[in-house]
Amino acid sequence: MNNPSASLVFSPAFTWGVATSAYQIEGGATADGRGPSIWDTFTHTPGKVIDGSTGDVACDHYHRYAEDVDIIASLAVDSYRFSISWSRVQPLGYGAWNEAGFDFYSNLLGKLEEKNIKAHITLYHWDLPQGLQDKGGWLNRETTLRFAEYAAEVARRFGKRVATIATHNEPWCTANLGYGNAQFAPGVADTVQALQVSHHLLLSHGLAMQAMRAVNSPARLGIVLNQWPATPATDSAEDIAAAEWEYARSVQWFMDPIFKGRYPQKALDRMDMAQFQVHPEDMQIIRQPLDFLGVNYYFRAFVSTENPPRQPEGKLGFSDMGWEIYPSGLTDLLLQLKAEYPDLPAVYITENGMAVADQIVDGKINDQARINYVQWHLEAVQAAIAGGVNVQGYFYWSLLDNFEWNSGYEKRFGLVHVDYATQKRTLKESAYWYRNFIRSQAA
Ligand code: FCB
Repeated sequence: MNNPSASLVFSPAFTWGVATSAYQIEGGATADGRGPSIWDTFTHTPGKVIDGSTGDVACDHYHRYAEDVDIIASLAVDSYRFSISWSRVQPLGYGAWNEAGFDFYSNLLGKLEEKNIKAHITLYHWDLPQGLQDKGGWLNRETTLRFAEYAAEVARRFGKRVATIATHNEPWCTANLGYGNAQFAPGVADTVQALQVSHHLLLSHGLAMQAMRAVNSPARLGIVLNQWPATPATDSAEDIAAAEWEYARSVQWFMDPIFKGRYPQKALDRMDMAQFQVHPEDMQIIRQPLDFLGVNYYFRAFVSTENPPRQPEGKLGFSDMGWEIYPSGLTDLLLQLKAEYPDLPAVYITENGMAVADQIVDGKINDQARINYVQWHLEAVQAAIAGGVNVQGYFYWSLLDNFEWNSGYEKRFGLVHVDYATQKRTLKESAYWYRNFIRSQAA
């Protein structure tokens, strides 16, 4: 067991990392002047999170970051992806900056520098300051301007100390789960609002890119999108058309504006674009050159028009989230992106990982299923590279077990187990496997 696969060989320049996000691990919800975000409001509203939990304490990373960076370093990775809590550095999302908040991230960066770990930061991992939500949140076009100011400030302060800055993490989720079906903060169920929000997120990305370029940040700049290839459940014309539509409204909906300066033709053909407001200049603002694209991949879309819909077979099984394990979908997706977007920049797999109902037995967590999952997906990445896609790095989601949004603490994605009662961290077998694997690459 635990022998890294000999057939997997990546370039020595390949980036190996682990990923987290602010609200899911930091805790310190009111520490040192942090303002509330929409996730604080949402989790404190009864009925929104399965186990009734909040991110008030989470992994207490705000107070334990030094120990956590030691753990990161022990995994032999060279990179760490994390996000900045906007309301920690600017409590209302406009107006005064909070120096104590910036100090936390400066100290974290200092500790990473000491351990030679490169920082890859995300500006927005879903936690809008409540102060901006009170003014209309992402439905309000003004929020895009506030986001650009925040981006410029972070780039000005930290641009020289980080390898990459991503504007958004998974805007699809912010729009469709935050505004489409109310599963995520701020908990609105209105598909027209979701469209407007997705446009404002894209616009804010473009404005933030321009604002960060203007401060001459040497960090590489990009965005992180969650993506999936869409497989028709059968070869019926209906399923095929539905799968094409699914791909258009999820993947191309974000990729086409960014790389082609327009919404996908399929959407223009079948949607009433007058439902939401796009100013004439917006599409050119959204289309900014990127230094990298972050791809988060967990599963494919399996599209069936039957009632009830056909379910995927799951030949390799399903995760504890109920998500089908389908590694070859990652190869398919990356090859499809390369074929469709001639301007596709370097790609990082910024998230990929598996929730497992881990058990501690005699002090050990034997998570062979997670090891298999990572190995299979690395094979899929390797196949995409062989097919000509410029993939430059892989970040496992997640470093630690953490607050999994509306699933609370029930779902464990970490390479490192967290006992939430004591905050004790225990490396799982997958953590040892990942370390051995990365070391074997260097050798
Ligand atoms: C992604 C999110 C990340 C985490 C994983 C499991 O959609 O970006 O925060 O919740 O899923």
